[in-house]
Amino acid sequence: MVKICCLGAGYVGGPTMAVIALKCPDVEVVVVDITSARINAWNSEQLPIYEPGLDDVVKESRGRNLFFSTDIEKHIGEADIVFVSVNTPTKTQGLGAGKAADLTYWECAARMIADVAKSDKIVVEKSTVPVKTAEAIEKILVHNSKGINFQILSNPEFLAEGTAIQDLFNPDRVLIGGRETPEGKKTVQTLKEVYAHWVPEDRILTTNLWSAELSKLAANAFLAQRISSVNAISALCEATGANVSEVAYAVGKDARIGPKFLNASVGFGGSCFQKDILNLVYICECNGLPEVAQYWKSVIQINDYQKSRFVNRVVSSMFNTVANKKIAMLGFAFKKDTGDTRETPAIDVCNGLLGDKANVCIYDPQVTEDQIERDLAMNKFDWDHPTHLQPMSPMAVKKQVTVSSDAYSATKDAHGVCILTEWDEFKTLDFTRIYEGMQKPAFVFDGRNVVNPEKLQQIGFIVYSIGKPLDAWMKDMPVVA
Ligand code: NAI
Repeated sequence: MVKICCLGAGYVGGPTMAVIALKCPDVEVVVVDITSARINAWNSEQLPIYEPGLDDVVKESRGRNLFFSTDIEKHIGEADIVFVSVNTPTKTQGLGAGKAADLTYWECAARMIADVAKSDKIVVEKSTVPVKTAEAIEKILVHNSKGINFQILSNPEFLAEGTAIQDLFNPDRVLIGGRETPEGKKTVQTLKEVYAHWVPEDRILTTNLWSAELSKLAANAFLAQRISSVNAISALCEATGANVSEVAYAVGKDARIGPKFLNASVGFGGSCFQKDILNLVYICECNGLPEVAQYWKSVIQINDYQKSRFVNRVVSSMFNTVANKKIAMLGFAFKKDTGDTRETPAIDVCNGLLGDKANVCIYDPQVTEDQIERDLAMNKFDWDHPTHLQPMSPMAVKKQVTVSSDAYSATKDAHGVCILTEWDEFKTLDFTRIYEGMQKPAFVFDGRNVVNPEKLQQIGFIVYSIGKPLDAWMKDMPVVA
């Protein structure tokens, strides 16, 4: 029986390994982590992450050929294939701070593998890492190998949170990068056989190590660039009276462009897009390509611009002040069907409104009060962020922020409602009831284009929808981002 050990039981390690275990009953999979609370949660009824379909997948294999453990040494020791799916955040200090990937966790993992391995291993990079990380990891492994043979592969993960199980069941492609030596090719084949249990052969792509590493960064940069492109157009739509949904539809009908990832919004979030682009920018700068670096940097600049534009639209529409006004925030996760709040635009919007002294009441179906408080008190790394979007001190957060358990209580007595996550349940809210409970004039600022602005205007709301023709109320109100 092939034995797999995965270091890192997070958003990637957990679901990916659960699906491998489900699809490969002849493979034993053990997911290990340094955080025992996370492992305990994976072994409990309440999994540590919310992901549609994940519960069923885990329940079917857990205890059969899927295990979660903190005994890292034992399971690395026994494994034939070691996946490394640890976090690779942006560096906050030192060389490359605010841009470069922090590979501390990765290096620790590699040293640990070298330390405890007693038999040959295939080490698989699952985390998103800078190009040439495999080479660095290989050096650590080889220089500490005690005669053991380590083969390294790059197998970046393309799942999207919220649809992770669907993406893993039916991936557009699985990418495996390896050395172009006979031994390297044999190693690629071994991993290919694992995925071939359920992924059609023509969707398993093999490349050299560096191409695989760079493809992941490039794919995320392209995806984020589409969002920033449509968001840039949304600002122009508001200025001219065009409707961004109509423009995006017409543009996306071009077969060369395609319709996906063209929804205008308050901005992208999540743990990957910004971090991976910053990393790409850093790699370009290090390789003497400042023009290329600036091109990708602008994707993030537009994203920051979109968030501050949204905040400024809220404030300017409400007579240029939100001080002491209750603003309901519907949604805090960075997108629907996940409880993940890493880099969510809601944090920046909330900080912007708090900076203008608003009282913010937040409702999100999957994000806990503790998590919201932690996020708002946290110091984000400081790169090209407008100075007025500064994080609040924990005390200020407590005073100005409340968390509700449903949308109706969150909006009660509010002056304005900001929709920041596209949860399906927000589409079917009773807005007449919400309107009746609010202060007048009542405002809705839809950062995800989930409501029908005309219908809400008929109820009596003043409505702002990103990239849609402006409500007469806002037409003469200039917004400086
Ligand atoms: P995460 O933060 O949810 O999970 C990482 C886990 O690794 C944590 O539980 C941490 O305790 C553990 N860990 C750190 N050092 C360890 C060590 N030495 N031994 C054992 N466990 C260790 O991170 P997430 O979201 O799963 O991301 C992991 C990697 O996958 C990142 O490089 C990310 O860029 C990439 N990725 C993430 C995607 C996502 O949607 N979240 C999608 C595709 C790639």
